[in-house]
Amino acid sequence: MATRHDLVVIGGGPGGYVAAIRAAQLGRNVACVEQEEMLGGTCLRVGCIPSKALLESSHRFVEVRDHAKEHGLVVGDVGFDVAAMLKRKDKIVKGLTGGIAGLFKKNGVTRVAGHGRLDGPGRIVVSAADGGETVVESEAILIATGSRSAGLPGVAVGGRIGTSTEALSWPEVPGHLVVIGAGFIGLELGSVWARLGAKVTVLEYLDRILPGIDAGIADAARKVLARQGLKMRLSTKVLAARDEGDACVVEVEGADPIRCDRVLLAVGRAPNTEGLGLDTVGITVDARGRIPVGEGWATSAPGVFAIGDVIGGMMLAHKAHEEGVACVERLVTGHGHVNYDVIPGVCYTDPEVASVGRTEEDLAAAGVAYKAGRFPFRANGRAMTLGSYEGEVKILADATTDRILGVHILGPRAGDLIAEAAAAMEFGASAEDLARTCHAHPTLAEVVREAALAVADRAIHF
Ligand code: NAI
Repeated sequence: MATRHDLVVIGGGPGGYVAAIRAAQLGRNVACVEQEEMLGGTCLRVGCIPSKALLESSHRFVEVRDHAKEHGLVVGDVGFDVAAMLKRKDKIVKGLTGGIAGLFKKNGVTRVAGHGRLDGPGRIVVSAADGGETVVESEAILIATGSRSAGLPGVAVGGRIGTSTEALSWPEVPGHLVVIGAGFIGLELGSVWARLGAKVTVLEYLDRILPGIDAGIADAARKVLARQGLKMRLSTKVLAARDEGDACVVEVEGADPIRCDRVLLAVGRAPNTEGLGLDTVGITVDARGRIPVGEGWATSAPGVFAIGDVIGGMMLAHKAHEEGVACVERLVTGHGHVNYDVIPGVCYTDPEVASVGRTEEDLAAAGVAYKAGRFPFRANGRAMTLGSYEGEVKILADATTDRILGVHILGPRAGDLIAEAAAAMEFGASAEDLARTCHAHPTLAEVVREAALAVADRAIHF
């Protein structure tokens, strides 16, 4: 017999699980269908969280090996144990995904284990791993099935050729790793393995790294990462890659093939819509496989909504989270909104790259007159004491109104610093508002303030 709910969410990732909890908080009877054993989606299982765990472990190794002496620390031989790093990572993932299961219990969200497929209006068939099927009925259905690593013609994933999922669990450090794609994933995981001693070559089709990030900041990041051993080959098109058993061969246009030990394919992500039964409710995906949505994240099928990576836009956990909350709030209360102009992005290299709002290229292309204020971390006391002072904060403000239009950071803890910029932009702040806000001393946040002062050419320390 079918169970009935007010809302069924398909997908327990950061979009889906958050939406399910919020709808339950608003008094709805909610179920969440998830095919994996662990809740949390790509982000918690094989994405944001495990990658940050390995970034932290590998960073600490480099810190101790290369910088202990300058702090006056005396340490013996410094080494690492990949298996122990992977174990720590897995423990963190287990704890956090278990935490979501606990939140479901606390909020009364029913978890349905298995693969969910639409089966006509208001009906979902869930196939469990053991082959059993259950039917769930619901007034509203929210699709939050996320995305998977995109493929590349000529590159067969398997064996020594992996995506981010496999690269988070390689049992040994590759001698030579070729990374295809200089986006967030390629640079974060390339950094992990480079820090642990791999020779890393990053092949990027474009003539720059980190597409979408302010070009000046991305170029500065490229130089720092190159010094850390990530060999960047830009304007390089990968034609094919194959695992030859004892090594991989990567073929690139106009240059000799590259032999290496492992390949990480990181050329973007593709929405998960296969096997979802979208045709049974009349939904057609667009040319890139995304589910088209309109007002309130409504699809073309009445009562069916979609959020997160599966609808495209920035494929970020927190963007999906925002959409999930806004979608169900709108469904229940009639109100719910996402400000797409203020969605921060962070790449957790060392130093981190963080960005919110418009880039200089955007503003120039749109013909918007702006002023830029920049301030380097090397002129900041706290950065000097941390021994991490590469990079800068750049604030872009409207030339007439002084309203902050974009903030771009390369520097220590940029991912945390960007939160202040996002809050300021959400409140419609001017650069002067930030510049006149008292910032504690000595902190990295003072660099944000000085950049705001620099918009009006009145930075104090540089
Ligand atoms: P991406 O779209 O950020 O970067 C992929 C890169 O691959 C691009 O620079 C592209 O030009 C390049 N490329 C495409 N085809 C190529 C070819 N044939 N040869 C060489 N280069 C080629 O995708 P990525 O890094 O895979 O990340 C996927 C998504 O996950 C992104 O939306 C990203 O924002 C998100 N993500 C976010 C993270 C974070 O918030 N810290 C961490 C990891 C991923």
